[in-house]
Formats: sequence, C-alpha cells, structure tokens
Amino acid sequence: MYAERVLSGMRPTGRLHLGHYHGVLKNWVRLQSAYPCLFFVADWHALTTAYDEPGTIEENAREMVIDWLAAGVDPAQAILFIQSRVREHAEFHLLLSMMTPLGWLERVPTYKDQQEKLEHKDLSTYGFLGYPLLMSADILIYRADKVPVGEDQIPHVEFTRELARRFNHMYGREPDFEAKARAAVKRLGAERAQEYEALRTRFRQEGDRQARTRAHALLDAASDLPPEDRERLFGFFEGDHKMILVEPGALLTEAAKMPGLDGQKMSKSYENTISLRESADSVTKKIRTMQTDPARVRRTDPGEPARCPVWQFHLVYSDEATRQWVQQGCRSAGIGCIECKHPVIDAVLKEQEPMHERAQTYIDNPALVRDIIDDGCERARKLAGETMRDVREAMGVNYA
Ligand code: TRP
Ligand code: SF4
Repeated sequence: MYAERVLSGMRPTGRLHLGHYHGVLKNWVRLQSAYPCLFFVADWHALTTAYDEPGTIEENAREMVIDWLAAGVDPAQAILFIQSRVREHAEFHLLLSMMTPLGWLERVPTYKDQQEKLEHKDLSTYGFLGYPLLMSADILIYRADKVPVGEDQIPHVEFTRELARRFNHMYGREPDFEAKARAAVKRLGAERAQEYEALRTRFRQEGDRQARTRAHALLDAASDLPPEDRERLFGFFEGDHKMILVEPGALLTEAAKMPGLDGQKMSKSYENTISLRESADSVTKKIRTMQTDPARVRRTDPGEPARCPVWQFHLVYSDEATRQWVQQGCRSAGIGCIECKHPVIDAVLKEQEPMHERAQTYIDNPALVRDIIDDGCERARKLAGETMRDVREAMGVNYA
C-alpha cells in the first residue's frame, strides 16, 4: 500500500521536442524499470489556463502519449493514463479543498508569478488558484513517494507534503491511538514486532532514516494486517497519529541541457525546437541553417565554439574525440561549419530512428494507443479507489 511509487504528469501542450526528451522522458524511461511508475496527461491542469480554448486538448493529449511511447516509455512497465478519466482525482481535490487554508494556496510562489507572466489572460479564477491542490490530489491519491519534476514544480511538491501532514494530523487522530497502535504491533507477531520496535527506537533516538526505510519495507510486506492497523503502524513509527496519506518527495529533474537551435533553451515559445518525431529532411535542414559563431563570416575566419550554438549540440551528442576535432578545427579554421554540423545531424537522426519506428506502429494502429490508455486508466482508477475509501472514511463521508 505504501510501496515505493513514482508518479509524474505532463500538461498536454502538443508535440514534444528534444528538450522534453533529454530533460524528462529519458528520466521516465530510466525510472520505469526501477520502480512502479504512473505517468499521466494532466488535462485538467491544462484547463486551468486554457479554459477558454479547450478544442486542442484531446488531440494534444493523443500526440503527447504517442511521443511518450516513441521515446521508450513502456506500457508493459508503467501505467499511462489521463487525469480526467480517473474522476477520483476530482473528488479528492474537492475533499482536500475543505481543509486547505486559502493562505497556503495564495503563497505558492508560482501563483503570482504565472499570473504576471500570462498577463494577457484572466487567471483570477478559482481553478487556477487551486492548481497546486489539484496536483496534490494527483500525487496523494496514488500514495506516490517519488515525484520527478522540474525545478519550477518543486514548490508544488513541498505544498503537497505540508498538506499530507495536515491531513494525517487532522484525520489520523484517534483518542486511544497509542493503545490501538500497540495492539497492532502485537498483531505483527513476535519476530516482526521486535524488529519494528528496534527500528522505531533507532529512528526516534538517533533519527536514523535508514531505520525508517526498513520499517516501511517491513510494513509494506505485512499485507496480512488490516489497512487501519498499517496506517497506525506507519504513523506510530514517527508520531502520534495514523498515516493515511504519504508525504511525497520531489525527484528533481535536472534542467535540460538541451539547447535550442539558436542557443537559448529549447522551447516552443522561442520557436527553436526540433520535435521528437521531426522528419529527417527537416532535422537536416534545421541544423544546416543553424546560426554559428557570428565572428566566422568567411570559411577562412577562425571561430570560437563557446560562442556557437552548434557547439552546445556537440556537448549533448558528441564524444570526446569529436569535440576535440571541433575545438581545434574551429579555432584554426581547419574545418567549415557545415562539416562541423555533420556529426550532430547524424547523431540526432540516429537518436530519432527508433522513435520514428515506435511511433509508426502507434500511428498505424490507433486502437493500440486507445487500449494502452484504457488499460492504464483502469489500473489507475483501482489504485485511486483504495486511497479514496480511506479518505472518505477519514473524513466521515463513507456511507458504504
Ligand atoms: N504541474 C505539472 C507541470 O506543469 C504537471 C503535473 C500535474 C504534475 N500534476 C502533477 C507533475 C503531479 C507531477 C505530479 O509540469
Ligand atoms: Fe560553430 Fe563548428 Fe562553425 Fe565553430 S566550426 S563556428 S563550432 S559550427
């Protein structure tokens, strides 16, 4: 129930580019073989800002999922789903909203920042204020303890942690908690109880985090215990109330080193991107016409890689020998810029080849994508349902 679990989402912005690949998707692909992972299309989050132009969401979501699959996200390993198709997120968001202090939302740094940045749009809406809360619901509903995000999203994960703590504190309290927790320890049986107690002592006296990890593993494996008792034992380990929700940690995705065609960060708004599934002709043309060191006007002028966006690409794609060749050849005017670009073009095309192949399968079989998403939504719904039962119970609205 509290096993290690990774969750991340992406707003459906349309076709992804190499910046997304190097910044986010490669990371997802790595994570999916190490942990149970859930990756989802945050379409409701898209509506918080694009509420007046909803027409593109479905198409964008579809293209984005194909990009994920093309990049190697594997539906046999990770659960892929669409936020709005797991309605439990909305119910949870509503229930959480009841106990979320308004000030907490108003103080999330992205709130005012984004409002100022997107000043052409009226973002003084209820939904936009609730953006981080919806994100908390996304995370907490799967009891995900690892959330890979970019730096801009860190405050949202921090907010989620505080909210989980508040929730557990508020709804995890019971008058005879300690007695119930001790009874639950007994129910573990002598051997596990002894280990649990020893780990708990180590954690409480020495703050030993490893002891905490081991205790969590022990409790995760204790599937013979009723959920209520496990919540108590998770909570009793470090405090005086049940742990109904899990505090997540952010896994910081390092800022993408992927430069755009003009040397700025690769971003759709700068119009300097190469899309994940860009055709080979177009990739070739875009790189061939890329700016180089402005000081290299003629072929015979020496250049400086540090001033050249093409060099940034070599840093992503080329091995040491090629980089040496660039440095020397550029500074001595021994190579021309077109020559210098060839290894980059080859490397990008080579990287994209398997992506084109995988994508083609899904483009040719739209039903395949539909099945993957249907299956993912169903599995996500099941997991979300488990948490929602506990949440409804905790908040006193479980009439079952
Ligand atoms: N807000 C995230 C972004 O824009 C997307 C997102 C929504 C998300 N819910 C999430 C990311 C939950 C991680 C976990 O990038
Ligand atoms: Fe840039 Fe290469 Fe031309 Fe030097 S030789 S300016 S690094 S493209």
